[in-house]
Amino acid sequence: MKIVVIGATGTIGSAVVKLLKQRHQVVAVSRSSGDYRADIISKDSLETAFGAIGKVDAIVSATGGAVFKPLAVLTDADFEKSLHDKLMGQVNIVRVGSQHVLSGGSITLTSGVLAQRPMPGSAAISLVNAGLEGFARAAFSDLANFEATKAELATDIVEALAVALGKLSFRSLLQPADGNDENTHARTLTCAPVDSHR
Ligand SMILES: NC(=O)c1ccc[n+]([C@@H]2O[C@H](COP(=O)([O-])OP(=O)(O)OC[C@H]3O[C@@H](n4cnc5c(N)ncnc54)[C@H](OP(=O)(O)O)[C@@H]3O)[C@@H](O)[C@H]2O)c1
Repeated sequence: MKIVVIGATGTIGSAVVKLLKQRHQVVAVSRSSGDYRADIISKDSLETAFGAIGKVDAIVSATGGAVFKPLAVLTDADFEKSLHDKLMGQVNIVRVGSQHVLSGGSITLTSGVLAQRPMPGSAAISLVNAGLEGFARAAFSDLANFEATKAELATDIVEALAVALGKLSFRSLLQPADGNDENTHARTLTCAPVDSHR
């Protein structure tokens, strides 16, 4: 199947690419290198990249920057960066990417454990991660044209993420399409690496 990995050159993305490549056609996208370049902050940039890539079976986002700093020193620019990059950037991926995903496909976003387990310095990142997970939970119900994700595809993506995250445990928020099998039927899927503070 054809799977776009955005953030393909990063720590998580490069490991995901390596694993998914064993069974799928992977299209690597990042801001400065890869098969295609896109900046998730810009919808236009994503539209250009997806227009060139064409229809795909799945999108995996392993990108998004946010600022880790004590609340007292977080600036307006820090909040703007966090909200525009990790949160709205990945929202943009769903808004644009969902127009290019074939029936039975999926979109995977990456949040982080700080959504559920905040710590000093995580105010901006916790805000973004929790917002992202709220968005993912809600957005799938508006993607009514999405069929349930093919079980094989969902399994391969979850396994690739689990292995890519190494010793980090992995929690996935799967949105069941039919309410029966959360592990194999997802329309949107949020990957939240845990035990790592981002
Ligand atoms: N690594 C962890 O332990 C961990 C733990 C919890 C959560 N996370 C989350 O997982 C995600 C990925 O983390 P990572 O550690 O793999 O990051 P990383 O190593 O910094 O890699 C980021 C990747 O995203 C690309 N990228 C950055 N900004 C982009 C943009 N605006 N548009 C398009 N591509 C962009 C980078 O490409 P360029 O270099 O070309 O810009 C690179 O391929 C992040 O959301 C992070 O918060 C990571």
